[in-house]
Amino acid sequence: MSVSPDRDLQAQATDDTVAKLPRHVAFIMDGNGRWATARGLPRTEGHRQGLETLRKIIRHAGKVGVEVVTIYSFSSENWSRPETEVSFLMGLLRRFVQRDLSELHEANVRIRIIGGRKDLDKGILTLLQEAEELTRDNSGLELVVAFNYGSRDEIVRAAQALSEKVAAGEMRPEDVTESAIAGALDTSGLPDPDLIIRTSGEMRLSNFLLWQAAYSEFYFCDQLWPDFDEAAFDQALDCFGARERRYGGLSAKTF
Ligand code: IPE
Ligand code: IPE
Ligand code: MG
Repeated sequence: MSVSPDRDLQAQATDDTVAKLPRHVAFIMDGNGRWATARGLPRTEGHRQGLETLRKIIRHAGKVGVEVVTIYSFSSENWSRPETEVSFLMGLLRRFVQRDLSELHEANVRIRIIGGRKDLDKGILTLLQEAEELTRDNSGLELVVAFNYGSRDEIVRAAQALSEKVAAGEMRPEDVTESAIAGALDTSGLPDPDLIIRTSGEMRLSNFLLWQAAYSEFYFCDQLWPDFDEAAFDQALDCFGARERRYGGLSAKTF
C-alpha cells in the first residue's frame, strides 16, 4: 500500500499527539538550598531531603513507564560553591550509590553516568564505574546521572574526540555529521529528552543538555525540589500529554 508523503506527515503528527507519555524525562533538581534556608536549616539539609525526593521520583518513573530518567546532580559550575557544600554533595553521592545501588539493581534499573571524568576524585570515579558495571545488563528504567556535567564541556570533549579522528585520517571532515556529533556526546545512544522539568521557579537550562534539548518540551514549576513529589510529577506528565510537538512541521489540526 502506498501512502502519500502528506498522509505520512499527518499520521506522524497524530501519533505524536497521541503518544502521551515521555520516553525520557530529565530533571533539573533545583531549590534544595532555599528549602533549607526557609526552615532555618543549613543548605546541606536541603540536599539530604532532596535525595529523598529523588528516590520517590525514580520509583514513580519506573511505575508509570518512563524509559529514561536523567538527573542533574552536580554541574561543572557547582565546584564554585563553598568547599563545605561541595564536599557534602560528594559524600551524599557516595552514600546514594553505596546505599541504593543494590535496591536499584534489584529493581532492574540501569545506571549511566554522564559528565567529565578527568580530575575526578578516584574513589568517586571507581564507585560510579562499579554502579555502571553492575547494572549494565539491566533492562528496566535507565537512570542517567549527570555528575560534574556541563553541556558545553561535553560538546567540547566531543568536538576534540572527532577532531582527533579527522587529524588521524580515520574520518573525513564531511563525516562530522549530526549523528557523528550525537554519537560522540556522553549521551550517545540515548533518546533525546522529551520533557525537561526544572523545579524552584528558575527558568533556565544552566548548561544542561543543550544539544539534546533541541526539541524537548520544558516544564517549570515553583515547588522546591525537596517538595516535589509523585503528584507534582504526574501533573508535569499531564501537562506534557497536552502539548503538541511539531518539530518544525505543521499542526495536525491544520490538515
Ligand atoms: C540544587 O539545589 C542542587 C544542586 C545544585 C546540587 P541548589 O543547591 O541549587 O538550591 P538553591 O537553588 O540554592 O535553592
Ligand atoms: C543547576 O542548578 C545544577 C543542578 C541542579 C545540579 P544551579 O542551582 O547550579 O543553577 P543556577 O546557578 O541557578 O543557574
Ligand atoms: Mg540552585
